[in-house]
Amino acid sequence: MNNSSSQFPTGFYWGTATAAHQIEGGLTNDWSKWEKSPARIAALEARGFNPTDYQSGQAVNSWNHLEADIACLEQLNCNAYRFSIEWARIEPKEGMFDEAAIKHYHQFIKKLQEKGIEPFITLWHFTNPLWIQKKGGWSNKKVVSDFARYTKKVVSAFPEVKFWLTFNEPQIYAGKSYIEGNWPPQKKNIFLYFKVFRNLIKAHRAAYKVIKEHNPETQVGVVVNNIDFDAAPGIINNILAGTIHWWWNLYFLNQIKNYQDIIGVNFYFHNRVNYGFSKNENKKVSDMGWELYPASIKPILLHLKRYQKPIYITENGLADSKDQYRAWYIKEVLRYALEAIHEGADLRGYFHWSLLDNFEWAEGFTKNFGLFTVDRTTWERSPRPSAEVYAQIVKHNHL
Ligand code: BGC
Repeated sequence: MNNSSSQFPTGFYWGTATAAHQIEGGLTNDWSKWEKSPARIAALEARGFNPTDYQSGQAVNSWNHLEADIACLEQLNCNAYRFSIEWARIEPKEGMFDEAAIKHYHQFIKKLQEKGIEPFITLWHFTNPLWIQKKGGWSNKKVVSDFARYTKKVVSAFPEVKFWLTFNEPQIYAGKSYIEGNWPPQKKNIFLYFKVFRNLIKAHRAAYKVIKEHNPETQVGVVVNNIDFDAAPGIINNILAGTIHWWWNLYFLNQIKNYQDIIGVNFYFHNRVNYGFSKNENKKVSDMGWELYPASIKPILLHLKRYQKPIYITENGLADSKDQYRAWYIKEVLRYALEAIHEGADLRGYFHWSLLDNFEWAEGFTKNFGLFTVDRTTWERSPRPSAEVYAQIVKHNHL
């Protein structure tokens, strides 16, 4: 297909996304501590799993393979890369910054820019320094000013960065850690959940101000994980879907609407609401068991039009170790995204999750989201067939 309807806007950003804890290796933070805790190990062993598959350890050693990762991005013809920097590396002790780590990130940023790859930096992607955890993590309101101080340090260290993303998926983090209790700090408590959510909103606003004061030209936003709550006919279904849509998809964005220049949206889920949630048909599912339902990206993007800000799909992808659906899925999601653009959604970029197979949080190394596989003994990166399909779309800026 090569006609104007399959053409993406000029200057569209094409990239992939990763997160520090999932790729860098060698980190000490609340997650690495949890991965090695006796309770976590016992829980995994009880299910017959090998605990080392669930410990980030050297991850895919991106900290020492920056050039190799950049080569992968070049192979994909990308003009952008979304990655996160690790707070625990930059500020390993309260108020004490590691200048060598900052320099390392800075060199990476400069190398990306030399290759014409625009960095989109996430300041926080689920992990916390141990000293933050000690204070009670995000349930302690003091963490808001800690985060602002860290932000200030980072934005002054990397003046050439234009795109800043404060938090990755506050909804998912608060839910997984404080409602489901599956992620550290594993505190199932609805009051803490609301406290954490509120503090994340406050910290976003504070960080936004810090970044804009430092450089008004920057583009700052949060990354939300929005879901298509797709109501089956009937008033009850409409009320259910509308209410959850308001809370899950819009609440955080409404709270920060005067503190954002761009919106980052991660797309993974369709949720059919039919007198209950997740009544999905599941005709195709990923290795995570998540329904592959590309059409959902369209309503998700159209709902964001109300904010009148440029939108970036900061993540979209699937666990698919056999690479059987990835190329199809990318093309279908992009086809529906184009339809949304034609209906007025100001979509400016797409970042595939993920560049590399990596550490998939509570699933450890057992799930493969990468366009590239990684040999975790030699650290060699190899493209899956779908990588070439994506590279061609990126190269031509059309489907
Ligand atoms: C997160 C990633 C994660 C991906 C796949 C997103 O919610 O931002 O860190 O690996 O989903 O589960």
